[in-house]
Amino acid sequence: MTVDIEKVVSLSKRRGFIFQSSEIYGGLASSWDYGPLGVELKKNIKDAWWKEMVYAREEIFGLDASILMHPKVWEASGHTQNFSDPYLICTDCHKYYRQDSPEVKDNRCPLCGRNFSSQATRANLMLETYLGPLKETALKVYLRPETAQGIFVNFTNILFTKHPKLPFGIAQIGKAFRNEITTGNFTFRSREFEQMELEYFVLPEEDEQYYEYWISQRLNWYINLGIKKENLRLRKHSQDELAHYAKACTDIEYNFPFGWMELEGIANRKDFDLRQHSQFSGIDLTYFDDQKRIRFYPYIIEPSGGVDRSLLAFLIDAYREEKVRGEKRVVLGLDKRLAPIKVAVLPLLTNRPEIVEMAKKISGELKRSFVTTYDDTAGIGRLYRRQDEIGTVYCVTVDVQSLEDKKVTVRDRDTMLQERISVDKLKEYLAEKLGM
Ligand code: GAP
Repeated sequence: MTVDIEKVVSLSKRRGFIFQSSEIYGGLASSWDYGPLGVELKKNIKDAWWKEMVYAREEIFGLDASILMHPKVWEASGHTQNFSDPYLICTDCHKYYRQDSPEVKDNRCPLCGRNFSSQATRANLMLETYLGPLKETALKVYLRPETAQGIFVNFTNILFTKHPKLPFGIAQIGKAFRNEITTGNFTFRSREFEQMELEYFVLPEEDEQYYEYWISQRLNWYINLGIKKENLRLRKHSQDELAHYAKACTDIEYNFPFGWMELEGIANRKDFDLRQHSQFSGIDLTYFDDQKRIRFYPYIIEPSGGVDRSLLAFLIDAYREEKVRGEKRVVLGLDKRLAPIKVAVLPLLTNRPEIVEMAKKISGELKRSFVTTYDDTAGIGRLYRRQDEIGTVYCVTVDVQSLEDKKVTVRDRDTMLQERISVDKLKEYLAEKLGM
């Protein structure tokens, strides 16, 4: 089924996944706020990445570098000179477009249809800010356009504190900012977003082997977390589209409702960054091989994904509509690990205080172990639909019989099958089902 993006946008807003930033002031283009459910989903995606990249491995170390960095970092990395996109401006309606935007056809303004009269101009994508109270004397710095550079400048700190042997990696999740020319497609291209980046340092002669290794690892990560295989594909960059630092790059693309687009890129950055930072800082960023007694710059393989983009892909991929007994059911079939809410406790009748009390007690106890919610604001059918729509994995219903036999009904989101479970076994039952 091709998902209508408008349905996902509307669900996101209606149920509290994603809101437009500063909405009460008319919104700020291409900035987004994550609501109560969005923040959980985002956290679960980041946790899944961190678990896989850092906790499951001996040779990868975590880092949380600052967003603001010394301006020389961006000179060394090449961003000051090279990090720009060509754009066209319409002299008539004053709209601007990325030159390579699919909207721009035959050199005409997509809005008014006039020919663009001038050549494309390049715009640097880094966002500037100033450190210090007086603008005249303040230091101009940039909001980092990628988290990767925070890793490269900490290379020796990791070498001296962890003493790793090649291959090893440094992983980081954090905000990045780009003054994108064309934004849009909901959160797909924003000016403020989060990246999940790994810089994996390898022997120069092993670069191609690890490049292939990380492409397959990263592709499998998305599949393993529930994205349908047929909605993912690999696209190798041609020589002329490679970034200035890359020897090779492959994108993992997702079949978004607006076309196949990049979800994550896996690049072979060679030894470009370590060499550049050594040269610009005057600090030796080589690696010493104590067996061979030689110093050299390791090569770097970089899987770099976006949190917001994967969240959008997970949402779209999980969205489905089906007919149940003649009625439409919207389900967010998110993987259990990603679902924002694991359990909802629902009283079948709200006019029986003992049932409400029992349900609230169960909910309070489950909250200590799983993200649990309690809801008694509608009839049971409606409550189930609400939970299905946000991807809640299990619904626990307390009914009249529960008062007698101390059992509750547990309903599975996907199969809608129901099981009676003793309250005293409920936590273990759910823990096993949820794999927690
Ligand atoms: N360090 C390499 C690097 O930054 P990139 O392909 O420019 O490579 C990596 O970015 C990932 O960051 C992309 O695959 C995408 O998921 C995410 N990303 C980049 N620009 C973005 C934007 N404007 N909005 C949302 N996500 C973005």
